[in-house]
Amino acid sequence: MAATSTANVFTRDALRGKIAFVTGGGTGICKDIAQTLLEHGCAGVAIVSRKMAVLEQSARELTAKAAAAGASGVCVALAADVRVPEQIEKALADCVARFGKLDILVNGAAGNFLALSAKMSYNAFKTVIEIDLLGTFYTSRAAYPYLVKSKGNIINITMTNHYTGMQLQAHAGAAKSGIDAMTRHHAVEWGQDGIRVNAIAPGPIENTEGMSKLAPPGYNETLQRTIPLGRMGTVREVANAVLFLASEAASYVTGAILVVDGAAWMTIGGMNYPDGIEAFKQLKAKL
Ligand code: COA
Ligand code: NAP
Repeated sequence: MAATSTANVFTRDALRGKIAFVTGGGTGICKDIAQTLLEHGCAGVAIVSRKMAVLEQSARELTAKAAAAGASGVCVALAADVRVPEQIEKALADCVARFGKLDILVNGAAGNFLALSAKMSYNAFKTVIEIDLLGTFYTSRAAYPYLVKSKGNIINITMTNHYTGMQLQAHAGAAKSGIDAMTRHHAVEWGQDGIRVNAIAPGPIENTEGMSKLAPPGYNETLQRTIPLGRMGTVREVANAVLFLASEAASYVTGAILVVDGAAWMTIGGMNYPDGIEAFKQLKAKL
């Protein structure tokens, strides 16, 4: 099994003075992204989603952890639903009013569940498209004027399920493949403004809401066995990839979709198609 890297391979001032806006930053993978950005010199990180109580608690925790790591950056909580452009515009304006600029946008807000395409409601499909795909567009579009000024960069959080057409994921796969396309279109269109646009496609990441929603009980062991690197990833392994793309180390990288998955998609794409383990058979029968 491949080792998990916990080393800090980037200098602590890799993002000195930068300001970041992280949607979905109150929980899971994007919370660790916010922490990693702060620990590497960001002067301010706004974490943005719907649940203010969760965001406020995370913002306090992240500011304290940054201080404990010797960083002076501040994390602030801003409530907004990415499906509502006016709320995102206001959150971005509040972030810039608080910190004076915006350098890094991480589009991480998402919604997902396992559902059969033939049975899921029209609104279920639409909801995931609205959060993931439209939310990423609204936030990128609203952040653009600030990013032009700073010559900043965008990192979209996508996934790999659509690479193989995985069952039970047509809604999320459709949304995330749209985000992959948007990453390339924006990289081309906004490259002329000095804005870099990249994406990270995580594989199965341990101890996350995403995995608890997508892996039926009893599936994790099979999953681990099928991943070439022999284990799930950690939130920090995704965050370190974001740190690379956000930093000057990636100054000539744009339009890239960096897969962080231990080569999982190449071997588990079918989720044991059609129902290789009992847990999946039972789950599909219930949906
Ligand atoms: N299976 C099938 N359909 C589902 C579903 C499920 N597990 N969960 C919700 N839906 C449907 C609802 O029934 C509803 O459709 P309907 O109006 O036709 O009944 C539609 O999706 C919207 O659900 P609602 O609960 O009103 O949406 P919401 O905006 O409050 O929440 C979700 C969005 C459903 C994506 C919710 O799970 C969420 O907020 N998720 C965020 C966290 C997350 O998913 N993390 C993992 C990221 S990978
Ligand atoms: P998570 O903790 O549930 O994160 C999703 C976040 O999105 C939550 O903080 C949620 O906060 C926010 N959100 C949802 N709907 C929103 C809306 N309408 N407006 C604003 N914010 C909204 O899940 P995670 O597993 O860490 O996933 C994080 C990202 O990684 C997602 O983009 C996901 O698709 C991607 N990913 C995860 C995995 C994995 O293994 N976990 C694999 C591949 C890709 P609120 O509820 O407060 O709004």
